[in-house]
Amino acid sequence: MFGVSAAVGYDAAPDLVLLVAENQVSHDQRRSQVRRRMARSPDAITRCFGLPKKKDKVGLWLIGAGGAVGSAVATGVAALKLKLAGTIGLVTELPVFEKLGLVSAASLVVGGHEVRSDSFLDGVKALRRQANLFDDELIRRCTPTLRSMQRNVRFGTLGGSSTPGCSAGVAEPVPDRSPAETVQRLSSDIEDFRDRHRLDHVVVVNVASTEPMVPRAAAHASFTRLSKALNRPGSRVLPTSSLYALAAIESGAAFINFTPSPGLSVPALRQRADELDAAYMGSDGKTGESLVKSVLAPMFATRNLKVLSWVGQNILGNRDGAVLANPIVRKAKLRSKDAIVKGIVDHNPKTHVSIDYVPSLDDWKVAWDFVHFEGFLGTKMSLQFTWQGSDSLLAAPLIIDLARLTAHDLKCGRHGPLTHLACFFKDPTDVTKYDHYVQWRQLMDHLERADAR
Ligand SMILES: NC(=O)c1ccc[n+]([C@@H]2O[C@H](COP(=O)([O-])OP(=O)(O)OC[C@H]3O[C@@H](n4cnc5c(N)ncnc54)[C@H](O)[C@@H]3O)[C@@H](O)[C@H]2O)c1
Repeated sequence: MFGVSAAVGYDAAPDLVLLVAENQVSHDQRRSQVRRRMARSPDAITRCFGLPKKKDKVGLWLIGAGGAVGSAVATGVAALKLKLAGTIGLVTELPVFEKLGLVSAASLVVGGHEVRSDSFLDGVKALRRQANLFDDELIRRCTPTLRSMQRNVRFGTLGGSSTPGCSAGVAEPVPDRSPAETVQRLSSDIEDFRDRHRLDHVVVVNVASTEPMVPRAAAHASFTRLSKALNRPGSRVLPTSSLYALAAIESGAAFINFTPSPGLSVPALRQRADELDAAYMGSDGKTGESLVKSVLAPMFATRNLKVLSWVGQNILGNRDGAVLANPIVRKAKLRSKDAIVKGIVDHNPKTHVSIDYVPSLDDWKVAWDFVHFEGFLGTKMSLQFTWQGSDSLLAAPLIIDLARLTAHDLKCGRHGPLTHLACFFKDPTDVTKYDHYVQWRQLMDHLERADAR
């Protein structure tokens, strides 16, 4: 793997592509070319919009499967399979999405990578015990399904440059010799999952603990340089989330980064993703305070009310909160949370966001925001709001939505950053509009264009 990519461009004649693919290039290059051809063929369009519409089988692979969000996703899918739950909270269940013919949430096949021994069931029982989520009967009835999903979970890696604090004390069972070998192993796990379950598409979603921001290294500039560094034994050239991102795209899966961790944002990986025609999007799911901000800030802008300062205090008590208590990790999270208001109002208000770990709250995250603004004749006024939500149950339905929408994009042969999914993220890849309704309009326009084809 990690060969230099083929020089065959998108517009090469199909015969030439075939000739090159069959005779002169590596398996890796061939796979990329085949994917390109499929993505561009009229057949991809027919598969997407034509009739009859066969329902694809889709895998959802969670990095950080045993965490609170991972377990809540697995339980949500299990509860939907068993018809024990309704669809409130799932954006893709709104009538406007009906025409897409998305795969059902209940049909998703769930698997993933984890580094702790906690299973989906352990995660869900912890949410029940500590945060009073779910009820015992639902857990009891979902248990066999959660156990069977657990058979799809594999040991991940602690081998990157930025292993989060929550993994302290966890040992890698058989350490890989180099990051390239790690990527190969992780990628094989995903391919094996696809083969065993005969999946048409796999969507990998990163819900592992947030990592600290990492400085750019010279090897991050191009994939050729990065490949060399990855093959060096013991090298820690990439953060852990980026090893997972690379493994996902090398396996032909889409990569969705629900965390603020670097993932695919390293330039060499973006380059590789484009070579492979991979579909990807991130970063950092927009679930609570940031969602409210991205809805309220446009109100001030469109009423010509001048936001003077916007201060947000977040308190939470789950494992994510414990990881974010580390100031270096917290900095990564604060960066994506703080960008929203400044990205919407066009003067430069004073903004401040803080996150504090308050263990007794467990999964019940509370945000208190104070907005100080100026109205007519220089009059100063204020708005305050308090938001309290179950962190995991706000995130879980969005991950199911992202899996369904991304699988649809894969079916249609879309690749590159899936910018129409911006409304799901705090810091959407390649999107500079933070206004939630502008992002929602982008998604609706995308659906209309899809419908018109
Ligand atoms: N809950 C929300 O509303 C929300 C919103 C946006 C982003 N997020 C992000 O989602 C992520 C998950 O949140 P959570 O509450 O489930 O946290 P969590 O701590 O409960 O779960 C994270 C899981 O990742 C696992 N993990 C850590 N390092 C790993 C590695 N190298 N490989 C594989 N697994 C690894 C941990 O063992 C843990 O099980 C966090 O990064 C959080 O910031 C959550």
